[in-house]
Amino acid sequence: MNISKKEPVFKTLIEPFKIKSVEPIFFNTREQRKKVLEAAHLNLFLVPAKEVIIDLLTDSGTGAMSANQWSALLRGDESYSGSESFFRFQNSVQSIMEMPHVVPTHQGRSAERILLKTLKPRGEYIVSNMLFDTTRANAEILGFNILDLPCPEFYQTQEDFDFKGNINLPDLESALSEKSVACVVLTVTNNSGGGQPVSMENIKNTSILCKKHGVPFVLDACRFAENSWFIKQRESEYKNVSPLQIARKMFSYADMCFVSAKKDGMANIGGFICLRDTKLTEECKRDLIVSEGFPTYGGLAGRDLEAIALGLQEALEESYLHYRISFVEYLYNKLKQIGLPLVRPAGGHAVYIDAKLALPHIPVSAYPAQCFSAGLYEFSGVRTCEIGSVMFGREKKDGTQTFHSQELVRLALPRRVYTFSHLDYVCEAIETFVKKEAASLKGVKMIRSASVLRHFSAHFEWL
Ligand code: F0G
Repeated sequence: MNISKKEPVFKTLIEPFKIKSVEPIFFNTREQRKKVLEAAHLNLFLVPAKEVIIDLLTDSGTGAMSANQWSALLRGDESYSGSESFFRFQNSVQSIMEMPHVVPTHQGRSAERILLKTLKPRGEYIVSNMLFDTTRANAEILGFNILDLPCPEFYQTQEDFDFKGNINLPDLESALSEKSVACVVLTVTNNSGGGQPVSMENIKNTSILCKKHGVPFVLDACRFAENSWFIKQRESEYKNVSPLQIARKMFSYADMCFVSAKKDGMANIGGFICLRDTKLTEECKRDLIVSEGFPTYGGLAGRDLEAIALGLQEALEESYLHYRISFVEYLYNKLKQIGLPLVRPAGGHAVYIDAKLALPHIPVSAYPAQCFSAGLYEFSGVRTCEIGSVMFGREKKDGTQTFHSQELVRLALPRRVYTFSHLDYVCEAIETFVKKEAASLKGVKMIRSASVLRHFSAHFEWL
């Protein structure tokens, strides 16, 4: 008998972990959810988590920690200054980002606020592939003008393109020549428009332009590991390079970065800033002490720093990244098969439904993505997130509204939390919802909204 000694290759993808601890899901009825949704004024941020069957609101802080991370919590050194946990955290961050200064913060948005404030005297504009909601809000509050310059492919939701997160380089060059730019921010991956990656080539060319014009280049890097994996898959020269080496190369082009550790940090809370410039670091630390805490804990407990130190490394493991991106693709492929208009291709942390195409009879003024999200929750208990005109539109001084270029429903996948059968439930729920309910939806009306980050608290009524 001729027995092959080659490693067998199996097609079935499995989660690269076993489950040691479980949380119950509470199953409610449509009638109950209808009441919950009404009490929440059709805003899914206001729905209690217990009333949600599958929660795809966000991938931020919602991941499951590993047994290693849980055991590290006990090692947490809670000293006010100079804790051992801080040095382990700093070493882990520096092994990836390779920048001399690391400033911890309680989450990403405080890192943004502190860093952007120090850059304020340098110019009036922040130029970006696209800022996400809190970064945009912080920039606006600090008085910056924001210029989003995504590549042209970004707007073609129905076309495939490897790096839709890229910034438009000719437009960036013009902006840098013509405007007073405080910094350029690349969000990797681009969360506002499909979780799409930015190529190494685009990162490199952005860095060249920034250097030429003397403008600091910042990475908003909370999904740095997922972006690294896409570079490995799609940019041929990185095919045989490890995600860690790719991540290091990405950061080597940047002058600084801010990171929410609630995504690829695999932690439930935390964030940080990395910098090369000593003077800017001192300014950041001055603000940090007033608003977050001493520079060796920055608003976090020692145990949180331990969790992040390990999480950052776990996020770069190839078996994890292969599973993670394939898991998102699984949901994407199943939804595509049932004919749903999705932002193409699949993102790194989420699948995005193009609600303008899914609900073509609903005008943008009736917030089709918000309407889809609210309707789907009531129908199935699946919670998603609107990324459209509720999040990015604004009320003008005369009371009229501005609308965003896209109306997306984001299905964000928490890390290591759900299984393939949970995704099957989500697909069945969406398929039935679209078939049975979509045509009868008429949209929603926004009846109350705050001036900043209104999607978190706005109230709506069905039309
Ligand atoms: N930058 C990006 C690209 C983000 O996606 C987020 C958060 C932040 C910064 C802010 O980080 O939440 O730790 O303060 N995004 C979450 C989301 C909230 O649902 O996508 P944070």
